[in-house]
Amino acid sequence: METLDWKNLPFSYIKTDYNIRCFYKNGKWGNLEISSSEYIDIHIAATGLHYGQEAFEGLKAYMGKDGKIRLFRWEDNAKRMVSSAEGIKMEVFPPEMFREALYKVLHLNRKYVPPYGSGATLYIRPLLYGSGAEVGVKPASEYTFLIFVTPVGPYFKGGMKPVNMLICRDIDRAAPKGTGIYKVGGNYAASMRAIIAAREGGYANTIFLDAKEKKYIDECGPANFFGIKDNTYITPKSESILNSITNMSLIEIAKSLGMTTERRQVPVEELSSFEETGACGTAAIISPIAKIVDPDTDKIYNYCLDGKPGAKTLQLYNKLVAIQNGDEEDPFGWVTIVD
Ligand SMILES: Cc1ncc(COP(=O)(O)O)c(C=O)c1O
Repeated sequence: METLDWKNLPFSYIKTDYNIRCFYKNGKWGNLEISSSEYIDIHIAATGLHYGQEAFEGLKAYMGKDGKIRLFRWEDNAKRMVSSAEGIKMEVFPPEMFREALYKVLHLNRKYVPPYGSGATLYIRPLLYGSGAEVGVKPASEYTFLIFVTPVGPYFKGGMKPVNMLICRDIDRAAPKGTGIYKVGGNYAASMRAIIAAREGGYANTIFLDAKEKKYIDECGPANFFGIKDNTYITPKSESILNSITNMSLIEIAKSLGMTTERRQVPVEELSSFEETGACGTAAIISPIAKIVDPDTDKIYNYCLDGKPGAKTLQLYNKLVAIQNGDEEDPFGWVTIVD
């Protein structure tokens, strides 16, 4: 392996040595298989290709100061993948096999876990899809699970920077009672037009509103939204958003820091009363929001007027990152050391 420039890694795919695969056929999962190919052979009539029977996960491995690899809440990713599989009628990949695959892929690619202090991490991407051939619309009878890893640089090079967001009313990512609560590819395909339009307008991402009434905040592109005011951490409750593991963790950290927390519908007008707002997810952990523009009402909501993340946002971020990296004790039992 050529030496990677850990401090300047991009947030994009870099080849590693191995990935793990597992196939469901004749009513059962086979053994985990190690592959060094970046490609998969796929049936031309696989349901994953035609009918969107596909779900994925995203988590990271962190190298601690002690030279030990740490995983953050991997059981929640395994459970969410079970829920996604059930949501689109795929065969469930058992969490105990998920763990075995995860450990195996980390051991085999250990040298790609970026060193402590580089700001980089090893991104882990589990994937499950219908690989059996069907022509009619129905669940496949064969499935493929795979897991690959790729080292990624920090989302914000040179530290967290507040970003601008655009509210979107003319495109929906997901409908109530649809698949928004699952991590399935179709939701991401549905969000692309809005995300590209926002980027072309110079925004970091889109804020999707609830698809039914367009009154409440749903998600920030591929991340959950939160607002802070009066020492209270407030985050949307909706039946069309993904339950972010980062957000669940920030809620617990906020409580431990003496903040009140609320998970409830967040009306768009409430944006004017927040002191701080942000988007949260595994990739950036927190993207503080500087400005939210509502093109339909011409309203602009400003935060971070000094160009810096707010004090509470920074406190939440620093605490979570310190736990993930192993710099601070983990009173919540979220971190697993992979030995
Ligand atoms: C649509 C969506 N919402 C929220 C999140 C954040 O979830 P997590 O914190 O589990 O990464 C993600 C990223 O996984 C996402 O794709």
